[in-house]
Amino acid sequence: MEKLSTESYKGVRDFYPRDMALMKHIFGAWRSASEAYGYEQYDASVMEPTEMYLSKTSEEIVREQTYTFIDRGDRSVTLRPEMTPTVSRMIAGKYREIPMPARLFSMPNLFRYERPQKGRLREFYQLNVDIFGVESLDAEVELILVAKRIMDNLDIPSDTYVFKLNSRASMRAALAKAGHGEEVGREVIRLIDRKDKIDDFEAQLAAIAPGFELDATEPADVREVRERLEALGVDNVRFDPYLARGFDYYTGVVFEVFALDPDNRRALFGGGRYDGLTKHFGAPEIPAVGFGMGDVTAIDLLATLNKTPAYKPASELHVIVADTTAQTTVLAAAETWRTAGINVSVDLSGRKVGDQIRYADKLAVPCVCVIGSSEIESNEVEVKRLSDGATHVGSFEAVPDAVRELLN
Ligand code: HAM
Repeated sequence: MEKLSTESYKGVRDFYPRDMALMKHIFGAWRSASEAYGYEQYDASVMEPTEMYLSKTSEEIVREQTYTFIDRGDRSVTLRPEMTPTVSRMIAGKYREIPMPARLFSMPNLFRYERPQKGRLREFYQLNVDIFGVESLDAEVELILVAKRIMDNLDIPSDTYVFKLNSRASMRAALAKAGHGEEVGREVIRLIDRKDKIDDFEAQLAAIAPGFELDATEPADVREVRERLEALGVDNVRFDPYLARGFDYYTGVVFEVFALDPDNRRALFGGGRYDGLTKHFGAPEIPAVGFGMGDVTAIDLLATLNKTPAYKPASELHVIVADTTAQTTVLAAAETWRTAGINVSVDLSGRKVGDQIRYADKLAVPCVCVIGSSEIESNEVEVKRLSDGATHVGSFEAVPDAVRELLN
């Protein structure tokens, strides 16, 4: 029989428990920052009708990078490459019932058929934080505060990254002044988005949009957001006239969180104002601001900054079974300890005591206790912390307190 490969599909990941622990750390930072500002979680299916991404609103690259298939009913289905069309569809579908402003967050897995490389995969997780129904720059200010709080939750110092801001509105105005319409505008934005990869950027820009010049003076909306954030103690906000953000749907301030570490100079978040995407779904034009933050770049940055948290297994106490006659008593005791709030794993191997302890150590379970007939007779259990051998001796009933004590 031909052996199947144990490798995962190209550009996606398996999450073994230690990987999952890191994901939970990131998801926790995302969730607590979003909820701190009153954002509510939503989700949707990974499958969407393809036509949703064929509209002009999506970034060309994303449209070209979709995973698309025909289902058995001849419908074209796409695995979501981003969440913004989905959340706009959901808001448009219930805009009469949903109280505005609507504060929403989600942590979807997204799919893009990209060339896998550092920081870029074909399936990744992305926090999406979006607010609907706020016309003023209050929304931009709040979202950047959420972004800052995520970085704080992840213990990423604010001198290791900057918020780059630009104004789509002022770029549009400058293009209009030079006599250019929307189509040229889209091309210009795509060109600016690829600026670092092009040698003759200025020449190409002049060819696409004659008479148009990138304005290096700070636009009023960017300045206001920057000044208001400064007053709130966020002092790493910069105007960047070369920040384009590929998506066509942005209409106002756009922003990115950019890591400054030389090994990790890349965008961690991207977002901006996209008023009016809801009208593509037949709803009124509802103002919207939001951002997406990916897990892959966050994991890389945590590693470079040495901020990856130490792994903590689920089990807090591994019970070593010294003789098989003790098994039933052990299972009953473990049940009461779990009810008392301790995570308990019971050894099921039937191996020697020393081997059971080595197993607990390999799994990094912090505490162990050995139970055999003598412990049962004397009602005396020794709970041991494996890292330094510290012990606590007491009755079976006192085991949960002993574990709590040793975990502190
Ligand atoms: P985006 O710039 O395409 O924006 O993605 C935002 C973030 O998702 C990036 O900064 C990066 O961290 C992560 N990301 C994107 N592509 C990949 C990939 N192939 N592998 C790993 N990470 C990736 C959007 O998606 C917008 N829809 C965000 C938004 C929400 N705008 C308004 N609301």
